Amino acid sequence: MPPTGARPGSVLRVVLGVSGGIAAYKACELLRLFTESGHDVTVVPTAAALEFVGAPTWSALSGKPVSTDVWSNVHQVPHVRIGQSADLVVVTPATADVLAKAAHGLADDLLTNTLLTARCPVVFAPAMHTEMWEHPATRANVATLRERGCLVIEPAEGRLTGKDTGKGRLPEPPEIFDTCREVLARGTTTPDLAGRRVVVSAGGTREYLDPVRFLGNRSSGLQGYALARAAAARGAEVTLVAANTSLPDPAGVKVVRVETTGQLRDEVVSAAASADAVVMAAAPADFRPVDPSGTKIKKAADGFAPSIDLTQNPDILHELSTERARPGQVIVGFAAETGDDTGSVLDLARAKLARKGCDLLVVNDVSGGAVFGSPENEAVILAADGAAVEVPRGSKAALAHVVWDEVTRRLASR
Ligand code: CTP
Repeated sequence: MPPTGARPGSVLRVVLGVSGGIAAYKACELLRLFTESGHDVTVVPTAAALEFVGAPTWSALSGKPVSTDVWSNVHQVPHVRIGQSADLVVVTPATADVLAKAAHGLADDLLTNTLLTARCPVVFAPAMHTEMWEHPATRANVATLRERGCLVIEPAEGRLTGKDTGKGRLPEPPEIFDTCREVLARGTTTPDLAGRRVVVSAGGTREYLDPVRFLGNRSSGLQGYALARAAAARGAEVTLVAANTSLPDPAGVKVVRVETTGQLRDEVVSAAASADAVVMAAAPADFRPVDPSGTKIKKAADGFAPSIDLTQNPDILHELSTERARPGQVIVGFAAETGDDTGSVLDLARAKLARKGCDLLVVNDVSGGAVFGSPENEAVILAADGAAVEVPRGSKAALAHVVWDEVTRRLASR
């Protein structure tokens, strides 16, 4: 597990670097999320960060003294000790300036010294105006940091400091927190999916009978979101095609929202054209009404219920698998099975893997509806080459990482 001294379940030493952007106030919430989870947080703001949020706030929320320079408590050698003893350094918000300093190894304050001495995973959550994020200098600095193994979370799109909108907004603190938890659980930011584009589908599609009623299913989208978050934490460029979910956008992930199986198919196929891997964690409705009513269907006076003709939806996984958009693309399906009198869960899953033609099939035993909406999952990952990996009951995040481990191995060998 963690090579850097991170101890799951124990108190972890987190350094929260804060640089001088208006989003510094959001780092207070991130700090609370870490401390309320029992972690030991040392806040290291830059001098510019203190223009936005003062040292007393950081000190009160972390329960520790706060300094920005290397001249306080010199006998404790803080410019070396803080970085050396950290399990995780997360810089939120990371300005263009701090990214540039980190990329070039400058060390003119406590935060930049800490970044040079840290040997643990380092996460940057940038926030800045779109022009600054897109500037070639920033692009080069981000690329350098990623090459060195840092995780630089893609900023979100949305309202910026002024009236303008665009890419450069800080992802929401709970999402940055979840990404950090991914990194802490893995113990590394080694970006083994860096430079890879992946597509994940999540949620359950709806097929409308009329403007207010639909056929749907119980998929919560949690597993797909965990897959998207895990892939982003491993450096991938992630498109999440989400069907009818009410979950917050994972940090650094492009989210495309859909409702029906037809829309899901179009968005997934379009994104798959440039993807290295596609994971179909969504539960698409298999059938749709042939002729949905444009107006609300009324109860009949004679008490008869309407009969609704259904037609079959496209099988997206089968299409992706049989018409591979790119050579070497890895396609992963999910199967929720109960087993029946024709075969066990694994018998049915093996047959489904062959029928769909995908590389990997993540099989859940859902007898009793155990998985839906639960934060946990257990599965067997079947491979087209006959291999099987059992994943014991654990978090959906843990299962997501095993899926990406399997995908990464296959991508590397193609
Ligand atoms: N899937 C898909 N398109 C569909 C239905 C399912 O891409 N129209 C994908 C799901 O996202 C999942 C996998 O296929 O990754 C298996 O889903 P499942 O519902 O088990 O497959 P079905 O073909 O519908 O099989 P069954 O007849 O057992 O329901």
